[in-house]
Amino acid sequence: MIEKLVMATNNANKLREAREILAPLGIEVISQREAGADVEADENGESFEENAVIKAQTVYDIVGLPVIADDSGLCVDALGGRPGVHSARYAPKGEECDKLLEELKDVPEDERSARFECWLVFMDYECLDVVTGSCEGRISTEKRGDNGFGYDPVFLYGSRTLAEMSADEKNAISHRGAAMRALYDLLKERYGE
Ligand code: IMP
Repeated sequence: MIEKLVMATNNANKLREAREILAPLGIEVISQREAGADVEADENGESFEENAVIKAQTVYDIVGLPVIADDSGLCVDALGGRPGVHSARYAPKGEECDKLLEELKDVPEDERSARFECWLVFMDYECLDVVTGSCEGRISTEKRGDNGFGYDPVFLYGSRTLAEMSADEKNAISHRGAAMRALYDLLKERYGE
């Protein structure tokens, strides 16, 4: 089984979540910076999958070790799936929840369905795998909770926002958790225990 992966991200929260999810499965995750790749990939793809592959390829070309990269985002039904692939650029960091609440201020509670999507790519010598995970919920009418990052304070899963959950609780139901576990199953099948 693979014991070490480089994660192609400069997002400390994503790195922390990947470590929390994969460490109990015996896989160490190191950051692209720790692996010597101090780069920011050009995320100019038109889909989550395309962007995840771009990120993985950018870092793989430098480090030459097994790399994972995720592209993720929030798709809100009342906004026709926006912000989607543009989630990271929807608003300045720290202002994304307020902007979303403002855009949805006239949308009734039963029309506020949304989902987080995560496309996770594994890239190694002569191999490229893509797995996905999603998390269904609703957009709240106010921000709640101090944990997590990004849109967590306005994403309701049941009666709580993701920002009101512990890290373990979020990882158990999140899009990234689902995709990471799918990746683990795939690697286990290929490389054995
Ligand atoms: P990426 O780094 O291009 O994949 O950008 C994903 C963006 O989607 C992040 O910057 C967040 O705004 C948002 N996002 C992705 N996953 C989560 C999550 O688990 N919680 C909250 N926001 C998220």
